[in-house]
Amino acid sequence: MPATVIVGLQWGDEGKGKTTDFLAEQVAVVVRYQGGDNAGHTVVVGEETVKLQLCPSGVLYPHITSVIGNGVVVNPATLIRELDMLIGKGVDVSRVRVSRSAHVIMPYHVALDKANESRLAGAKVGTTGRGIGPAYGDRAWRLGLRMEDLVVEERLRERITRALEDKNLLLESMGADRFDVEPLVARCLAWGERLRPHLDDSTWIVQDALRRGDHVLLEGAQGALLDLDHGSYPFVTSSNPVAGGACTGGGIGPLQVDEVIGVMKAYATRVGSGPFPTELFDETGRGIAERGREFGTVTGRARRVGWFDTVPLRYAVAVNSASAIVLNKLDILSGIETIKLCVAYEIDGQRVDKWPSSGARLANAVPIYEDFPGWEQPIHDVRSLADLPENARRYVSALEEHAGVPIVFVSVGPERTQTIERAWRPMRHRPGALA
Ligand code: GDP
Ligand code: IMO
Ligand code: MG
Repeated sequence: MPATVIVGLQWGDEGKGKTTDFLAEQVAVVVRYQGGDNAGHTVVVGEETVKLQLCPSGVLYPHITSVIGNGVVVNPATLIRELDMLIGKGVDVSRVRVSRSAHVIMPYHVALDKANESRLAGAKVGTTGRGIGPAYGDRAWRLGLRMEDLVVEERLRERITRALEDKNLLLESMGADRFDVEPLVARCLAWGERLRPHLDDSTWIVQDALRRGDHVLLEGAQGALLDLDHGSYPFVTSSNPVAGGACTGGGIGPLQVDEVIGVMKAYATRVGSGPFPTELFDETGRGIAERGREFGTVTGRARRVGWFDTVPLRYAVAVNSASAIVLNKLDILSGIETIKLCVAYEIDGQRVDKWPSSGARLANAVPIYEDFPGWEQPIHDVRSLADLPENARRYVSALEEHAGVPIVFVSVGPERTQTIERAWRPMRHRPGALA
């Protein structure tokens, strides 16, 4: 029963889209298990670049069943736009299945997210403004709408009327516009009509696939350091990107997971507010941002850039029980004379090796670095480990040693094939592999 979870080990944008697409060739089903259209996952095949916010990054393969799991919050307007974009590229979207129990991001969730961020002003989280927090909040408060509700008019009207009673009070108190029931009901019905053929019982799709012996890949959004429980609260997202989230949000049990692949890049980035001990404010940082095209896929915001930090890496490997790592964007470090690797922090005069759970302590962390000599030459065209510059191999080995888990692939460019196999043990069940 092989199920493999793909998780971000940093603050998101580690290249999960590229990694999922690369590995999806070998599986039957790919599932998104949490987050919503705050995610932006990029897949590059040949000259074509596809940015996905809700559909799992395996959707481009004709053999994949793509599942949007119950743990995802779905903005139906975004999903419909994405399906239209994929249809325009000739992708058969009938294989996109959407959990009936996934919650709906309503227009008032988006308005509340934005209004709350302006109210927080200098203390804002720096959300993507997609209504993620308010939608998950309503889910927990049992005030939410689920995808199945979009096709039942009476139920829609009842749920929206109840929700708007306090949403409108809140919106007005924040100086934002009110919503009326009937226009929202009409919009939801139109969404429901369009999405009806995709609604499904996603847990049984996944469970039946596993029972048949098909390989299922579960694709996380965001990253461990943005996790609602494990990240630096309140500068986090409102779901659980960590591997445990794949169980609750993807419809599988913990013992059905046989591999957790952590995805990270060769340096660090963060979008939005919150502590970032290794952040760079100099020319080196600007160079990395430029070469790495570090602008948000969803919001276009400049991503903050810093050196790789092994302190949260060790934490992320532990809480995800990562069994293998994919290292992306090594190519972006070409041309840097000395690469710094954060190995520990100094907090209040003491050396700290463990990621502190306290946000206040983290805010005072001063990185302790080890220096690594860099390499000059571009490595985009390298396809075997032996052809990487020695200093690049040394840096990769140091990262691996800190992680305590094998780095199985090294990526040297955005395109599907710009990938170096390092210590990969092929996944057990490839379609056609036994033929
Ligand atoms: P995700 O949210 O984790 O899927 O990552 P994003 O797609 O938001 O951001 C990663 C960006 O880096 C995308 O533009 C990818 O095309 C690109 N990318 C992924 N791997 C590599 C790599 O090894 N080298 C380079 N240069 N770009 C990469
Ligand atoms: P992918 O899947 C990077 C960040 C936001 C903000 C915080 C909360 O592409 O890696 P939210 O809108 O979720 O309430 O915002 O989380 N954030 C991301 N940062 N990559 C993402 O997704 C992100 N999704 C949310 O910038 O700091
Ligand atoms: Mg992204």
